[in-house]
Amino acid sequence: MDRVPSGIKGLDELLGGGFPEGRCILVVGSPGSGKTTFALQYLYHGAMLGETGLYVTLDEHPDLVKKNLQSYDWDIDGMEKKGKLLFIDASGIRRARSGDNSLVSSYGSSGVDVTDFTELLKTISKVVEGENVHRIALDPVTSLMLRYVEELKRRRATVAFFDALADSGCTSIITSELKTSLMDRRFQLEEFLSHGVVLLHSLFHEGNIVRAVQIEKMRGISHDTQIRPYQFGVTGIEVFPRDKVF
Ligand SMILES: Nc1ncnc2c1ncn2[C@@H]1O[C@H](COP(=O)(O)OP(=O)(O)OP(=O)(O)O)[C@@H](O)[C@H]1O
Ligand SMILES: [Mg+2]
Repeated sequence: MDRVPSGIKGLDELLGGGFPEGRCILVVGSPGSGKTTFALQYLYHGAMLGETGLYVTLDEHPDLVKKNLQSYDWDIDGMEKKGKLLFIDASGIRRARSGDNSLVSSYGSSGVDVTDFTELLKTISKVVEGENVHRIALDPVTSLMLRYVEELKRRRATVAFFDALADSGCTSIITSELKTSLMDRRFQLEEFLSHGVVLLHSLFHEGNIVRAVQIEKMRGISHDTQIRPYQFGVTGIEVFPRDKVF
């Protein structure tokens, strides 16, 4: 299987080279664990390699997302101007001033009003085809899944969405919110349905909070399964692939 470099320092060593190409990878984490950082770091790295990345925001306005990432040493605006980073605002949060998002406006509106996966997929597909997108990040999928009250419908819609993203030929990162602490937790539906799962944990160890990453699953490839420490720095998330937490 061909690999796509993640752009997360140290993570590719755990993956044996990178994410499997054309798959949907879920990044599951608690509040502030670095889900948005992970998603944008993945796209930004791709952009540096010349691959166009599409970021779909479901909870926050794109401007706010960019503002929150200013502490990193990334030229997001520059990449956006070059057309290597594209943003779709599916947050439902609109600005009074229209036309502040040239990509979305060129696809028909100043934002996407998303009520389900099918509608979002239509917009994503148009942009992927029109702009030759290689990498997608959707952050976070949680609010969209909550639109489906009935579990069977939610399951079917989520599988169909993941499969359609895979069919687009892009390699996708989907973030998901973890509402319980690591140990003794229930698995979330989307963890079963995605092609791969990366967990971002906050662990309490010897009186300290330790940030740790674990590859829970990655269909089709062999990978490290241990819990490894990570930290934030100016370049984003860095994983220490040979260190152990416990
Ligand atoms: N330059 C930096 N240096 C060190 N840590 C940083 C830096 N920038 C951000 N952080 C850390 O990253 C965390 C936020 O990361 P991020 O927004 O990616 O998390 P998230 O999981 O998406 O959060 P949320 O659940 O709110 O969506 C901050 O809480 C902070 O601890
Ligand atoms: Mg976030």
